[in-house]
Amino acid sequence: MERYLEFAGVGKAFPGVQALDDISFRAQSGRVLALLGENGAGKSTLLKIMSGDLRADTGSVILNGETVSFTSPFDAIKAGISVIYQERQLIPAMNVMENIFLGDLPVKSGLIDAKKLKSDTKALLEKFGLSIDPEIPVMFLSTAHQQMVEIIKAYRRNSQVVAFDEPTAPLTDTEIEILFKLIGQLRDEGKIIIYVSHRMAEIFQVTDEIVILKDGKFVKTLNTSETDEQELVRSMVGRDIGDTYSHLSRNDSMGDVLLEVKNLASPYVRDVSFTLRRGEIIGFAGLVGSGRTEVMRALFGADPVLSGEIKLDGRSVSFKTPKDAIDSGIALCPEDRKEQGLVLWRSIEDNICMPVLSKLRKGLFLDTKACERVALSSIKRYDIKTPTVDKIVMELSGGNQQKVILGRWTSELMDTKILILDEPTKGIDVGTKAEIYQTVCDFAKLGIGVIFISSELTEVINVADRIIVMHEGHITGSVTREEATEESILALAMAQ
Ligand SMILES: Nc1ncnc2c1ncn2[C@@H]1O[C@H](COP(=O)(O)OP(=O)(O)OP(=O)(O)O)[C@@H](O)[C@H]1O
Ligand SMILES: [Mg+2]
Repeated sequence: MERYLEFAGVGKAFPGVQALDDISFRAQSGRVLALLGENGAGKSTLLKIMSGDLRADTGSVILNGETVSFTSPFDAIKAGISVIYQERQLIPAMNVMENIFLGDLPVKSGLIDAKKLKSDTKALLEKFGLSIDPEIPVMFLSTAHQQMVEIIKAYRRNSQVVAFDEPTAPLTDTEIEILFKLIGQLRDEGKIIIYVSHRMAEIFQVTDEIVILKDGKFVKTLNTSETDEQELVRSMVGRDIGDTYSHLSRNDSMGDVLLEVKNLASPYVRDVSFTLRRGEIIGFAGLVGSGRTEVMRALFGADPVLSGEIKLDGRSVSFKTPKDAIDSGIALCPEDRKEQGLVLWRSIEDNICMPVLSKLRKGLFLDTKACERVALSSIKRYDIKTPTVDKIVMELSGGNQQKVILGRWTSELMDTKILILDEPTKGIDVGTKAEIYQTVCDFAKLGIGVIFISSELTEVINVADRIIVMHEGHITGSVTREEATEESILALAMAQ
């Protein structure tokens, strides 16, 4: 019997947007199918329909010739469909084996058969070459290992379809290798695999065919081996965007030193020294966990400074709280949009205006017109897909939420001297990425000193004027854009 998953005329509307419009295509067993499209194109919505989290307004989902319809995620699991989201769906306090076998724990004379549970779990982990302790509560595992546990769990349930929504965003390069090996194993066993990512290189590395969505509509299916990045970008954006980096209009007149950090130490980093000039963009590279975010937190008054000195405009400063830093003109756009950034149940406008509310008063009241204007200008600058400024942030697609946080920390009323961007393009589509790079260069032209942290090496190398590399909480070197190569930076990042 031929095995496949088919979408037939699937449609889904939310207030003000047709998220999916008459989507039809087929995913075959033993192949990895990429779902590709701009932020807000409808990828996650389609996966949520597959997983039973959302119900389609029209059309149907067909598995091996049979129409399936789910009223809850449980139904989808029973039908053999597992969707792995970025937010983990494990029970944190339960251990690995209990999570993997949840709902199906082996029982012997009325009790859980712990011995069998452990040996079955071990066998599964070994099959995929994973060294994870079956008895450790999953909350103590790294993000990557938690994701592996979810995949094993899907496999154990004998899922025929396994879908991934931007699975590599929180992973390091080595972890990504392991994930790809796992996906390859699942494919070779004849599973139907759907893979959503904005990272082009991955699409070419791991998928067999590509379905492109645009504004909720099906555009086309392409064979991965017969296409190239340019064609993909053209199909998803609707135009050529050319070489992202060579078209950048950069700042070519740097000013004097704006920030001087000397021998800074916090509980997480040590002996960090660097300078930043007006109009300069410095990149921070390093492996996940190398301390880049922690340097910025210390600088921003979010972590205690144990020793060392920070000079802003030639004057020694010490920030006790982030508010002190903001008042001195430092803006930090955090890496984690959910935990440290957005208020998900408030509107786009509220989120963007939050740090500049004091400037938006008219007498005792808030100048609502001005609030709307500030929000609209950020929506326009970052091309945030939304029907109105009042939309609740929770209802935006992942990439559009990321854009709101950028909009907040770079809104027209922010009086920013130093802008710190921590992984600003995470989850952002290729077309918008190019616009964000140009925006960053434009800030530099205004004389703002920019600190740009990214795990995507090509991005840091091409956008920053100078790249500082960190390893295990301290700086291992610094190179100019002209000197920088991926190899030289990787060597510094691994302290070789
Ligand atoms: N719960 C919801 N309520 C209202 N609108 C929603 C809801 N979920 C999604 N949308 C809207 O549906 C559209 C498609 O969103 P979806 O999350 O599927 O996009 P996506 O392709 O996954 O984008 P991204 O690459 O940014 O993750 C967007 O316009 C989004 O704002
Ligand atoms: Mg999404």
